[in-house]
Amino acid sequence: MPAGEPPVDAARAAWAAAGVDRATLERGRLTYLRDCGRCHSPVALSTRDTAGWEGILPEMYAKAYLSREESEDLAAYVLTASRAAQRR
Ligand code: HEC
Repeated sequence: MPAGEPPVDAARAAWAAAGVDRATLERGRLTYLRDCGRCHSPVALSTRDTAGWEGILPEMYAKAYLSREESEDLAAYVLTASRAAQRR
């Protein structure tokens, strides 16, 4: 499994704590795989902590032309999955 694309199940431990539902994470992951690897390889989620991702994501939503809803789903996936990745 490439480090940058943890399956949604890898984030399971973080879901309940974050109160994010599974469907949101599934949508966010698909957006990440589809749109965040177009210009560069998808960046491994473990490379940044929450603050690091929050800092870069807004710039990348714009680059990927994501809608507001896509951006919110993506953020839910990236932030919960990166937290899970850092716990490993
Ligand atoms: C239109 C091209 C494009 C798209 C689409 C894009 N990026 Fe980027 N990304 C870049 C460029 C160019 C850089 C490096 C310069 C910069 O930071 O603006 C970068 C840098 C990054 C970095 C920092 C890399 C590092 O090693 O420090 C991260 C993290 C990142 N992108 C995540 C994302 C995510 C998440 C998405 C999906 C929402 C995304 N990118 C979509 C062009 C893109």
